Amino acid sequence: MDKLIVHGGATLRGSINISGSKNASLPILAATLLTGEPCIIRRVPDVSDTNYMIQILSALGADVERSSGTVRITCEEISDVAPYDLVRRMRASICVMGPLLARKGRAVVSLPGGCVIGDRPVDLHLRGLEALGAKVEVEGGNILLTAKNGLRGAEIDLRGTHGPTVLGTDNVMMAATLADGITIIESAAAEPEVLDLANFLNAMGAKISGAGTRRIVVEGVSELHGVEHTVIPDRIEAGTFMAAAAIAGDGVRLNRVSREHLKAITSAIEESGHRVEFNEAGDSCVIHRGDQTRGVDLVTAPYPGYPTDMQAQMTALLATTPGISVIKDTIFPQRFMHCAELKRMGADIKVDAGTAVVRGVAGLSAAPVMASDLRASAALVLAALKAKGSTEISRLYHIDRGYEHIDEKLLMLGANVERVKD
Ligand code: EPZ
Repeated sequence: MDKLIVHGGATLRGSINISGSKNASLPILAATLLTGEPCIIRRVPDVSDTNYMIQILSALGADVERSSGTVRITCEEISDVAPYDLVRRMRASICVMGPLLARKGRAVVSLPGGCVIGDRPVDLHLRGLEALGAKVEVEGGNILLTAKNGLRGAEIDLRGTHGPTVLGTDNVMMAATLADGITIIESAAAEPEVLDLANFLNAMGAKISGAGTRRIVVEGVSELHGVEHTVIPDRIEAGTFMAAAAIAGDGVRLNRVSREHLKAITSAIEESGHRVEFNEAGDSCVIHRGDQTRGVDLVTAPYPGYPTDMQAQMTALLATTPGISVIKDTIFPQRFMHCAELKRMGADIKVDAGTAVVRGVAGLSAAPVMASDLRASAALVLAALKAKGSTEISRLYHIDRGYEHIDEKLLMLGANVERVKD
C-alpha cells in the first residue's frame, strides 16, 4: 500500500486545473445502462471509484473504452446481476440499481457495506423503487428487485431522518425515466451532481424537470438514446485545494471550477479571514491567505448548505486558526475519524455527539497518521502541509478513491510531497 510523505513548510504558488466531478461521474456512468446506444462521457476523473464503476459496467456486459478522461461506453446486451465482489467495495455502485431495474425489469445488487463515516442504509432507495412498482427482496446479502409488468409513475417523498438522499434521488430519477406515466419526487436532493445527471438523462431523451430543486418531475418515455456529455467540475476537490491554499498558499489559482457550486465553501473560507477572488466567468479563482484569521461555526447541510464532504478539510484549516470553531455534521454525525489523527499532530479538538469543538493552536507537528476515509485523508494532507517536520500518511488508497493525482497537483503547486510504496 502506498503512503504519502509530506514535508511541511513549503509555500504553495501557481495554478492547477480541477478535475471532473467523481460524484457526478458515478451516477452518469450508471445511467448509460438505460440505453443500448453508445455514450461518450468527458472529464471522468481517473480515480479508483470511477475505475470500479467501469469494472462493474464491464462485468454487466458493457463495452467500455477509456482514453485519458473520456469514456466511451455501450450497454447493448447487459446482465441484471451486478458482481458482488466489485459492488461490495464501493457504496456508490448502488446507483446501478435504478437503471438496471428500468432497462431489464430486474436487478440483483449486493447490499452496500457500512463505512467509517457511518451506517449507510438504502431504505430510501428501496422505498422509492417500490413506489414505482418494484418488488423488493433481500436475501444472502443481495437486494433483488423485480418489476415484471414494468415500472409506473408515482408520487414519492424521499426525505430521511438526515435529510435528502443524493444517490437515492439519482436511483429513483433514473428508474422513472422509463416508467409508464409521471413520477414526482418530493424532498429530492438538489446537489449539482444530481442536476448534472438529469441534464445527461434529458440529453438521452428523458423528460425531467425541476432537477436541482427539492421537487423533480419525470415523464416516462419508451426508450433513451446515446449521448455525449462533459461532467461538471469537482466542487469537493476544488474546496479541498481552496483549504490547502488558505493553510499554506500565496495566491494559488484554481482553474476549471464553478463559482455557483462553491458558494457555501467560499463563504466559510472567507468568514475565517481569507479572500477568494473569482474571474468574470466564475470558472477560475485565486485564494489570498488572510493575516487576520478567526474561528468559525459550521453546520453541514444538504446542498446548497455547507457540504459534509468538506467538513474534515475545513477542520484541518481551523486547527491552526486562532479562536474557537464549532463544527457540526448533521448528515454523518460520526464523520470525525480525522480528529483523532489531527490530535496526534497536536490539534486541540473535542468531539462529542456529532460536533467537534476546535481550539486553534499555533502550529501542528508531524506524526505518522493513518487515512481512514476519502475526505479525512485529504484533511491529513492539508494539515501536514504546514506542520513542522515530515508527516507520513499511510493507507493512501483512501485518497486515490476520489482525488485524481493529488500528489502531482500538490507538487505542481510547490508542495514538498512524495508517494512511497509501503
Ligand atoms: C453522496 O452519498 C456522496 N457520494 C457522498 O460523498 C456525500 O457525503 C453524500 O452524498 C451526502 O451528501 C456520491 O455522490 C457518490 P446520501 P450518498 O444518501 O448518496 C442517509 C464522498 O466523499 N440515508 O445523500 O450515499 C445517510 O445515512 C462521498 O465523495 C438514509 O438514511 O449519501 C446519510 O445520513 C462520501 N437512507 C444521509 O441520508 C438511505 O436510503 C445522506 O446520505 C440513504 C441515505
